[in-house]
Amino acid sequence: MKKFYWFFAVCLVIISCKTFTAGTPGSEGIDPYSFKVQKEASGYNGAVVSAHPLASKVGIQVLKNGGNAIDAAIATQLALAVVFPNAGNLGGGGFLVAHLKNGQSISIDYREKAPENAHRDMYLDEAGEAQTQFSQYSQLSSGVPGTVAGLFASLPYANLSMDKLIEPAIALAEYGFVLTEREARNLNGIQSDLEKYNSVLPVFVKKTGWNKGDTLIQKDLANTMKRIRDHGQKGFYEGETAGLIVAEMKKGNGIINKNDLKNYQAKNREPHVFDYRGYQVISMPMPSSGGVLLNQMLKMVEDKPLASYGFNSLKAVQLMTEVERRAFADRAEYMGDADYYNVPVKKIVNEDYLKDRMKDFDPAKAGNSKVIQPGVIRGESEETTHLSVMDKEGNAVAVTTTLNGSFGNRIVVGNAGFFLNNEMDDFSIKPGVPNMFGAVGGEANSIIPGKRMLSSMTPTILLKNGYPFLVAGTPGGTTIPTSIFQTIVNIVDFGLSTADAVNLPKFHHQWLPDVLQVEDNFPPHILDSLVNMGYTIRKSGTIGRTDVIKILADKRLEAIADNRGDDSAEAY
Ligand code: GLY
Repeated sequence: MKKFYWFFAVCLVIISCKTFTAGTPGSEGIDPYSFKVQKEASGYNGAVVSAHPLASKVGIQVLKNGGNAIDAAIATQLALAVVFPNAGNLGGGGFLVAHLKNGQSISIDYREKAPENAHRDMYLDEAGEAQTQFSQYSQLSSGVPGTVAGLFASLPYANLSMDKLIEPAIALAEYGFVLTEREARNLNGIQSDLEKYNSVLPVFVKKTGWNKGDTLIQKDLANTMKRIRDHGQKGFYEGETAGLIVAEMKKGNGIINKNDLKNYQAKNREPHVFDYRGYQVISMPMPSSGGVLLNQMLKMVEDKPLASYGFNSLKAVQLMTEVERRAFADRAEYMGDADYYNVPVKKIVNEDYLKDRMKDFDPAKAGNSKVIQPGVIRGESEETTHLSVMDKEGNAVAVTTTLNGSFGNRIVVGNAGFFLNNEMDDFSIKPGVPNMFGAVGGEANSIIPGKRMLSSMTPTILLKNGYPFLVAGTPGGTTIPTSIFQTIVNIVDFGLSTADAVNLPKFHHQWLPDVLQVEDNFPPHILDSLVNMGYTIRKSGTIGRTDVIKILADKRLEAIADNRGDDSAEAY
């Protein structure tokens, strides 16, 4: 009898392994133990670009197996939750923007929300001082996760079923994949935090340190995903997984309860749409500031002959910096979850208003954030990850998801295997107190139970003559909208190749702090001139990891993965 059970178990393993390497939609031909990062790919039938080669391969395989761009986006996100635990997630949230082959543009909001027991001053001590260690690194820092609800809200637009789309991710979690050098380094960088914040040591802890080529197996995560496969959305928001999340909350000061989880809903929203130099731009509305900021910044430069200034010329960089400063001043004052706060969107994207904002622009000297305040209107973040997908039928999808900090709050839900977000820090926990990206806010983004915290994520699609021209997005916290702003201007105004538009150095200004962040390789002579004009410059490593698909004149899909990470492009 014993012999029979053993034989049966071995057969099951063989069958399962086979399922991973052949037969499962989205997994054929994918070798999780040997793969390469690919920065450029092109084809007429489909393209996927994401933060990890295995996730992009899963997406392209789904397209080849009859899935459309939404199917591929769902499967790629699930794969990222396994192979890119920095930001790919089940325990976080995100936004999807899509332009469908029938001409419809949609957006889905699966941003985390404040739990029902949250309150405005929950991160202030008795003296009224903000305690960011609780909004960033404790069970209390987590908003109610939205990703799984978002995947199910995307499903009506897909061709395949969730059990097929989740299978490659389950296999990657169950049988493992090998770490890249960057992943090994990133995991080694959080070992002490993992030990500090987790009562049960998660699989991400390795006493001897991780090396490139080590295999990471995540059985708990595979089991969580199987519950989603078997029970749908309830497999996460109710039953065993919900119980494990609530138990994890109780290990610390967390407040997410079973009601919060059961009641979480993704929301279909009208995308934020506007025109720029003849292109239609489709981006994310509140609770992301991304679409509105992008709208403000592009409109503030639209009447300027940017192309004649030249890419990364002093004139262009200074103008764009001042535009970024003004948009972010408005973000701090006016932007938050529009379901809870009356965000004056129409007024702050009004072209006369934006012209007025630029009235005090001086091309000869630096603006000053003490002087340049939010506009007066009458009457009224390695830490995030983006993927772009396009299929042969003309469906284009841009998805950005996040845990907020890299690996979220560094807490892995015990026996469930996934990191929790620390998205509560994206609320304004006290007026004027900066969040982990240095951004400030006030009433518009204060904590209210059920409210979604303001985001900067900017999944964006540009249409030319009604057909997709560009699918773009990036991680990077508050640098997200400015990176997308610059990527669009680089292509539309400066005529850069897609690869150059993505990879050449970027800069960022967010009003406060009043510093101009630039990438380490930014041209020094431009920096010298900017310093002479009065700018304070801060070198900040890299800015963004922008993953773009550009649709060429003959409808070939050109997928470009940012050199700043392991981002990888696939096309066929
Ligand atoms: N957590 C970064 C963002 O949503 O903007």
